[in-house]
Amino acid sequence: MRKINVGLIGFGNVGSGVVKVLRDKRSFLAEKTGIEINVRKICDKDLASKRNVCVDKKLLTRDAREIINDTQIDILIELIGGVHPAKEFIAEALKKGKNIVTANKALLAQDGQELLALAADRGKNIYFEASVGAGIPIIKSLREGLVANSFTSISGIVNGTSNFVLSRMSESNCSFPDALNEAKKLGFAETDPTLDIEGIDSAHKLVLLTYLAFGKFVNLKEVYVEGISKISLADINYAKEAGFEIKLLAIAKKEGDSLEARVHPAFIPRAHLLASVSGMFNAIYVSSDLAGDLLFYGPGAGQMSAASAVVSDLIDLTQDIKAGLFRPTMNIVADKSIKKLRSIDDYESRYYIRFMAVDKPGVLAKVSGILAKYGISIASVTQKERSKAHIVPIVMIIHEAREKDLRNALSTIDRLDVIKEKSVAIRIEEV
Ligand SMILES: NC(=O)c1ccc[n+]([C@@H]2O[C@H](COP(=O)([O-])OP(=O)(O)OC[C@H]3O[C@@H](n4cnc5c(N)ncnc54)[C@H](OP(=O)(O)O)[C@@H]3O)[C@@H](O)[C@H]2O)c1
Repeated sequence: MRKINVGLIGFGNVGSGVVKVLRDKRSFLAEKTGIEINVRKICDKDLASKRNVCVDKKLLTRDAREIINDTQIDILIELIGGVHPAKEFIAEALKKGKNIVTANKALLAQDGQELLALAADRGKNIYFEASVGAGIPIIKSLREGLVANSFTSISGIVNGTSNFVLSRMSESNCSFPDALNEAKKLGFAETDPTLDIEGIDSAHKLVLLTYLAFGKFVNLKEVYVEGISKISLADINYAKEAGFEIKLLAIAKKEGDSLEARVHPAFIPRAHLLASVSGMFNAIYVSSDLAGDLLFYGPGAGQMSAASAVVSDLIDLTQDIKAGLFRPTMNIVADKSIKKLRSIDDYESRYYIRFMAVDKPGVLAKVSGILAKYGISIASVTQKERSKAHIVPIVMIIHEAREKDLRNALSTIDRLDVIKEKSVAIRIEEV
């Protein structure tokens, strides 16, 4: 049986999961694929901490170059995360003739285009299934299963931490800080959860999904990103009353000759499949011309879920190596009907808006007067509470409006002396 050597840099949560799967399922995988995958070397900064898998100490090193320079190693698995030195390790390994498997969405969203070009130039591949939705096979599906399709939109719940927080607020009627603390206690949120909560991790994944579906490598800085930290329990409850759930969505959508790439919280109708995705789960809703609307759903993180994707990539690569083939991973063709990236200013949507206003006559007239000045019409208004502090929420649903007009209107409204907090506006997404 053909044996293919792999080297792993990053023996952490996912890395140790991959080694465990390759060890525990060695004969199962060999029988299925006709190839024996041999872990020849493992590098990590920390060789002392206990892992859930035992390995021969001779395999371990702190020096990544022992893997990169080893001519017997065909595939480098990069699982350290972050941009540097992961980028340098991958670039050096490609130059040394190795194929790459990585789960590093932060690196690929920033420098993926450069690294994929280097790989193609060297006749090698970079596979990255675990970087979006962990074990959910969304990348392989877009790349292979749906190869004959053109796409109109991809809308994903691709960050488990934010989805857990929003679901918790909705299901348990708890505040944002309480839900986030619970996520931290359960190990679902980092000590510093900024990347997850502020939508940055979702934006990394959106860059990759956009590339796979539309053939455009969008610059991360051009993705509109808004997180969930401003969402209050009141917003969640108003959404529920109106028949919606609030979800953090990563959306890539074709509108005429423009492409939208945006991450933000959105109201979605409770009847939509994405509305029922709760807790740490991820889901990616794909609209395609031939296969129609598809939903990919599952745990979006976790050691074994991510290991499943990494091993799947490894097996794809070993099959190619065995056949002596070079199938460019990303034989992506750009959608030529897309001429430009649409600015968020030009985006049009219905919105939910919450103002915190002084409870006295005439306030609503002032607010609606300003909205009218910007051409924004109100579909419904609710003011239920009366408060001893005389500050009450006024909640509106507005008809379709242009984002820029709404922002200008809100900044004028927020300067009124009767408005006591920055107003909150959440898009109502027609997914
Ligand atoms: N965890 C998940 O569920 C999941 C799911 C999908 C994708 N991913 C991606 O998978 C990758 C790995 O995530 P993870 O959760 O396994 O992270 P992790 O547990 O922190 O593992 C990373 C390991 O790499 C080591 N390391 C860091 N820099 C290194 C260097 N320069 N040389 C050698 N070793 C180095 C770290 O050591 P120290 O701890 O000592 O720094 C750590 O042991 C990331 O790109 C992540 O985004 C993770």
